[in-house]
Amino acid sequence: MRAVIVYESMYGNTHLVADAIGAGLGSTFDVQVVPVAQATPEILADASLVVVGGPTHIHGMSRAATRKAAVEGADKPGSLLELDPDAPGPGLREWFGSLGRYPAKAAAFDTRLHGPAAMTGQASKGIVIVPVNFALAGKCVVFRTAPDTLLAVYSHGQVSFQVDHVDEELREGWSVLVHGHAHPVTDERDIRRLEVRTRLTPWAGGARDVFVRITPSQISGRGI
Ligand SMILES: Cc1cc2nc3c(=O)[nH]c(=O)nc-3n(C[C@H](O)[C@H](O)[C@H](O)COP(=O)(O)O)c2cc1C
Repeated sequence: MRAVIVYESMYGNTHLVADAIGAGLGSTFDVQVVPVAQATPEILADASLVVVGGPTHIHGMSRAATRKAAVEGADKPGSLLELDPDAPGPGLREWFGSLGRYPAKAAAFDTRLHGPAAMTGQASKGIVIVPVNFALAGKCVVFRTAPDTLLAVYSHGQVSFQVDHVDEELREGWSVLVHGHAHPVTDERDIRRLEVRTRLTPWAGGARDVFVRITPSQISGRGI
C-alpha cells in the first residue's frame, strides 16, 4: 500500500511535519513525501492514502502574494528565516484547482495553532502598510494595483489610508487619515471614467489594472 504526503512549505516547518507524518506511516505504508511541485498525477495514481499539508497564510491557504511576502520576509537583512528548498514551487491552492479525481483516502493538516490570541498571534500584529500613489474621485480615494499583490488581496474590506506632507525648511507639516471601505472597481464603464477623470498612473512599474476605491467613513487630520 502506498501513501503520498504532499507538502507546501516556505520556511521548512510544514516540510518537517510532513516528514514526521511520513515516518509515522512508514510501518504500514510504502511512503513518499513530496513537495507540491512533484505531486504529479503519476505519483498519486495508485496511492491508497494522500496526506496534504501547507502553511496557514492570512487564515487560509497561501496565495502568490502571501508567498511573495514570505520570501521577502526571509530576504530582509538580519532575518533568521531560511527558505525551504521547494519554497518557490506552486501552492496547494493552485494544485487543488488542477487536481483530478482519485479513489484514495485523504487527510489534511496545516500550521495554524488553535488557542488564545497570545499563542496564535494577533491580527493587529499583521497590519500591513503599503505606499501607493493615489487620486481623488469625488469623495473617494482611488489607487491602482496588480491582481497578484498584497494590496489586491486586501482590496475588499475595512482599510485605513494616510497621506502626509512635511516641509523641513518651514518646519510645517500635515497629515490626513481616512478610515473607510475599500472595494475593487469591476464595472468597465466605471474604470474608463476613473482613467479619464483621474489620469492616475501608478508610480510602481508593470501593468496595474486593478482600480481600488476607498469610500471614507471617517476622516481626521492635523497640521503643525
Ligand atoms: C504571509 C504569512 C501569513 C501568515 N498568516 C498566518 C495566519 O493567518 N495564522 C497563523 O497561525 N500563522 C500564519 N502565518 C505563520 C505561518 O503559518 C508559519 O510561519 C508556518 O510555520 C509556516 O510554515 P512553513 O515553515 O512550512 O512555511 C503566516 C506566515 C506568513 C509568511
